[in-house]
Amino acid sequence: MRTILTAGSFAVVALLAAPALADPDEDNLVINDELQMVTETAAPAHMEHVDTIYSGWRFRTDETQALQIDDFENPAMIFVDQGMDLFNSVDGTEGKSCASCHEDVAAFAGFHAEMPKVMNGKLVVMEDFINGHRARAMGAEPWKWSGPEMQAMVALIGLQSRGMPMNVKIDGDAAPYWEQGKEMYYTRYGQLELSCANCHEDSYGLMIRADHLSQGQINGFPTYRLKQAKLISRHNRFRGCIRDTRAETFAEGSDEFRALELYVASRSNGLSVETPAVRQ
Ligand code: HEC
Ligand code: HEC
Repeated sequence: MRTILTAGSFAVVALLAAPALADPDEDNLVINDELQMVTETAAPAHMEHVDTIYSGWRFRTDETQALQIDDFENPAMIFVDQGMDLFNSVDGTEGKSCASCHEDVAAFAGFHAEMPKVMNGKLVVMEDFINGHRARAMGAEPWKWSGPEMQAMVALIGLQSRGMPMNVKIDGDAAPYWEQGKEMYYTRYGQLELSCANCHEDSYGLMIRADHLSQGQINGFPTYRLKQAKLISRHNRFRGCIRDTRAETFAEGSDEFRALELYVASRSNGLSVETPAVRQ
């Protein structure tokens, strides 16, 4: 249960269009009539102020929800197809495509559900992995973080884990990064002095301007945003949210956003991977 309204939540209340509490709806997400998704579950033990976690899907309108129920309706699937073309395309000095070494993308099932994770002593998010791998395995140039090629590939790899529970590791060598991300989550940014938690922990369920505020989960990323008509990366979403507090923000691919991504992902642990989700 959310218990105390902090000073920050009063700032949120000041932004509200209609300050009515509207909890997540009761809808059940089954994709293509066969894949049952977990959109609501007990919060992971490390979350102190929340009992139940909900997918952002549960806060969307019926029209937006419908687009994610059937892959033929899901506008993100065009980009997944582009990811598949890239997967088969030779690039770089080694004359290789991803497919030269990986026969079947389905073999990546589970990989996305555990990202980000520490590899060789460094916190690695999916975009790092793809670019590092392209450089080493293919001799290919890095892709731009939020560019169409990168997000198409992240979506393709992510889709292989769809329906599996998010399961990022937060202890051991991940712990210092996780602590850093947690601290950021509770830091107030910008002229509005709002933290992620003020909106996504204290105030989810409320309407903020025209938006039904969710818990800010990242189990559906990259998501197709109807407003932008393209796939949006996790870091791009973080930037947008911080900018809304009228703050200077961190760069996509910054160490700060890597740590924040790990922490936010850990708040989704137990929800199904929905990649690629559809949001307003
Ligand atoms: C020269 C061979 C080669 C090429 C080209 C290559 N990979 Fe890999 N990849 C590997 C090897 C080797 C591994 C580590 C062993 C494994 O998990 O298969 C790996 C691991 C991976 C993994 C992690 C799998 C897991 O579960 O740990 C992913 C995801 C991946 N590659 C994606 C790609 C993508 C996307 C491309 C193209 C951009 C690509 N690879 C190109 C050889 C290659
Ligand atoms: C002023 C309130 C506010 C603050 C502060 C804020 N957000 Fe958001 N955020 C929103 C709104 C509004 C949306 C769109 C509606 C929704 O999905 O909740 C959103 C959406 C998101 C989403 C997409 C959820 C989905 O299901 O696709 C993520 C992830 C997210 N925020 C993370 C963050 C993080 C991390 C921070 C802190 C750096 C943050 N937000 C700060 C208001 C806020």
